[in-house]
Amino acid sequence: MRIIVTGGAGFIGSHTAVELLDKGHEAIIIDNLSNSSEKAIDRIEKITGKKVRFYKEDLCNKDGLLSIFEREKADCVIHFAGLKAVGESVKLPYKYYYNNIVGTLNLIDVMNKCGVKNIIFSSSATVYGTPSVVPITEECPKGICTNPYGQTKSMIEQILTDVQKADRSFNVVLLRYFNPIGAHPSGLIGENPNGIPNNLMPFITQVAIGRLSELGVFGNDYDTPDGTGVRDYIHVMDLASAHVHALKKIADGSGISIYNLGTGKGYSVLEVIKSFEQATGIKIPYSFRPRREGDIATCYASAKKAKEELGWEAKYDIIDMCRDSWNFQRLNPNGYDD
Ligand code: WQD
Repeated sequence: MRIIVTGGAGFIGSHTAVELLDKGHEAIIIDNLSNSSEKAIDRIEKITGKKVRFYKEDLCNKDGLLSIFEREKADCVIHFAGLKAVGESVKLPYKYYYNNIVGTLNLIDVMNKCGVKNIIFSSSATVYGTPSVVPITEECPKGICTNPYGQTKSMIEQILTDVQKADRSFNVVLLRYFNPIGAHPSGLIGENPNGIPNNLMPFITQVAIGRLSELGVFGNDYDTPDGTGVRDYIHVMDLASAHVHALKKIADGSGISIYNLGTGKGYSVLEVIKSFEQATGIKIPYSFRPRREGDIATCYASAKKAKEELGWEAKYDIIDMCRDSWNFQRLNPNGYDD
């Protein structure tokens, strides 16, 4: 299939583009490079040995988007493009709502105009808010998102659901990621956040490489086995392969489908630190800090539905994730700025 990947120069987008190309699909990347690097495009080509058509474009520029879709005649869109820093979204709500929602509305309008009716959306477990029960299944009700970033994911899910209800020729797959970490085994692409990392793993790898002095552990008084937050970490390569499996649902013309993408196993912050030290032999200094606003104690997936319906399940374990995260960081001490 010919697939337009919005945000395809980003962390999950670039890994998915590699998987698509490796599986014989055509990947066309649209990215405004606001939180990614054009170097990722070169790296994707280096890994796969295949050419990628890349357009530096912003989804908020509808005319620019339309001309790309008119030219490319895509079969499907995988939609990653969006701002995604939880903490930043609390400080800059307008920027997040405008960028993520208007960008998506433009995308849907342009898809309609060009007869592209298949979309896989990069959603997030954050739409469950504080889960009433774990492991979280797709039947769990969506919760109150504690930040504008999460709200935009939930709203975009609703927009796509309503669009598909009104026009049954649309096929929509919503993929709710848990906590993506890791990197391509080559170490050529990986997580490369701007500024001080919000997320746990890039913070750990920057401590390991010496860019940061120690890790602050946000809270050790949660109702969890060791008091620190428990999350379902999933290797970005597993996440990428799930997107290729999700294309099957698109090909089946299945209307709208929702899948949790997690391993079904939760690890605490202290367990991640221990796993990282075991995988790399590098000690990670840390100290306990107050809880981070908006954080929840425990969140991990039931991955049953994706296994049954997509024939997909996560293959990499936490040691693989730590090893590959570190491999990317040690080969790219300053990310793509090297
Ligand atoms: C994980 C655990 C923190 C940093 C968010 C979004 C989700 C997705 C992933 C985009 C928590 C603890 C973290 C640190 C710490 N975003 N932590 N010190 O908050 O579960 O999920 O990022 O795709 O949609 O909601 O991920 O990595 O920030 O935190 O102690 O310096 O690590 O408290 O328990 P989170 P995270």
